[in-house]
Amino acid sequence: MSSDNQLANKSQAWSALFSEPMSDLVKRYTASVDFDKRLWLADITGSLAHAEMLTAQGILSAEDHAAIQRGMAQIRSEIEAGTFEWKLDLEDVHLNIEARLTELVGIAGKRLHTGRSRNDQVATDVRLWLRSEIDELTKLLTGLQVALVDVAEKNAEVILPGFTHLQVAQPVAFGHHLLAYVEMFARDAERMTDLRRRVNRLPLGAAALAGTSYPLDRERVARTLGMEGVCQNSLDAVSDRDFAIEFTSAATLVMVHISRMSEELILWMSQSFGFIDLADRFCTGSSIMPQKKNPDVPELARGKTGRVVGHLMGLITLMKGQPLAYNKDNQEDKEPLFDTVDTLRDTLRIFAEMMGGLTVKPEAMERAALRGYATATDLADYLVKKGLAFRDAHEIVAHAVKTAIGTGVDLSQLPLAELQKFDARIEADVFEVLSLRGSLNARNILGGTAPVQVRAQVARHRERLSA
Ligand code: ARG
Repeated sequence: MSSDNQLANKSQAWSALFSEPMSDLVKRYTASVDFDKRLWLADITGSLAHAEMLTAQGILSAEDHAAIQRGMAQIRSEIEAGTFEWKLDLEDVHLNIEARLTELVGIAGKRLHTGRSRNDQVATDVRLWLRSEIDELTKLLTGLQVALVDVAEKNAEVILPGFTHLQVAQPVAFGHHLLAYVEMFARDAERMTDLRRRVNRLPLGAAALAGTSYPLDRERVARTLGMEGVCQNSLDAVSDRDFAIEFTSAATLVMVHISRMSEELILWMSQSFGFIDLADRFCTGSSIMPQKKNPDVPELARGKTGRVVGHLMGLITLMKGQPLAYNKDNQEDKEPLFDTVDTLRDTLRIFAEMMGGLTVKPEAMERAALRGYATATDLADYLVKKGLAFRDAHEIVAHAVKTAIGTGVDLSQLPLAELQKFDARIEADVFEVLSLRGSLNARNILGGTAPVQVRAQVARHRERLSA
């Protein structure tokens, strides 16, 4: 076999060392091209940076460099046009592209791999690919926050029962409730930005595991690729996937936040709550029950959270028993990573859109807030301001609530004379305190639910998100 088509027939001839071809089953088992072809652009980008540096270092001739650039441009257009022929026999994205390059430009294609191994190549590709996905996801996180802030602003005065233990606790502004999620997604975006720095480091130059004897300029490659630095230990560079785990962990938190929000949307849309409605385009009907409109999108998002959590567990487990340095185990990092990115991207897009189509039902929310003695704490605070110790006030109000429950009315519906039986210091101004709106306005503290505070937070978020 001529050395030129050796790569194209890799399964028969890894090298002269092998005396029998790989079985078809093993070929399928070990190949990754079906999924890792997704890394093609990163692979070409990394190769071009490597070739440029090899040339600058005098390791590659200008003619070879030009041939590689020409060949890669051709490969790029073939892949974009969908005419590139991916071969399972060539195992993965790296060998497929390299073989085609050699087919197109001859010996220059074979020189590209000087001072490089697929081990540092794949680690570089995954990092480059993930970096650009992180950038897109960060933008989508911003988009979702903006959508939530829009709804929050419109609902800064709308009163919702706030819950603890899913029991009515105190009234809160619906806008305030939504801004809680904005905080979560803001931290998620912050995490992405932070971990991006650790993703964005260059493994190339580590070669198979020990570095290389060629005088490579690793810093130059890092600069060309817009990376923040080079991995400082060759063994670590080719073997660790902690950057992928860290990303998946941050992605898991995004999904956990999405899942909590989903759970609330589902509850709120149920007949028992009736707080909101989702636009029809995010729901489905039932094939048997004509009256049904189901919140499928939040339900699926809650379900898909499990899938991303699973990917995190998969990646952590993948890493835990591996001795240094590269092991083929690491080929298994890609599918969970790809699926995590895809799930996150679609979910964030849909949720931002869904927020735009949210119908809020303020009367239903307010009615629910009136049902659970949500202003009992306000009465206790009122008594404290009249000189009682909080614990005593708490006890007095508990008696008042018991009486109100007995007669089936809200505290604010008890006559003044009745209220005064619990404490003589109660006066007519108590009714403002016992109103939902009074309770809301009273929580005029940084981070509190008073509508002025909600508006201040909306303004802060808008400024932050437009920066
Ligand atoms: N497809 C491989 C992966 O994803 C590329 C690296 C292969 N390296 C090796 N020494 N077999 O990890």
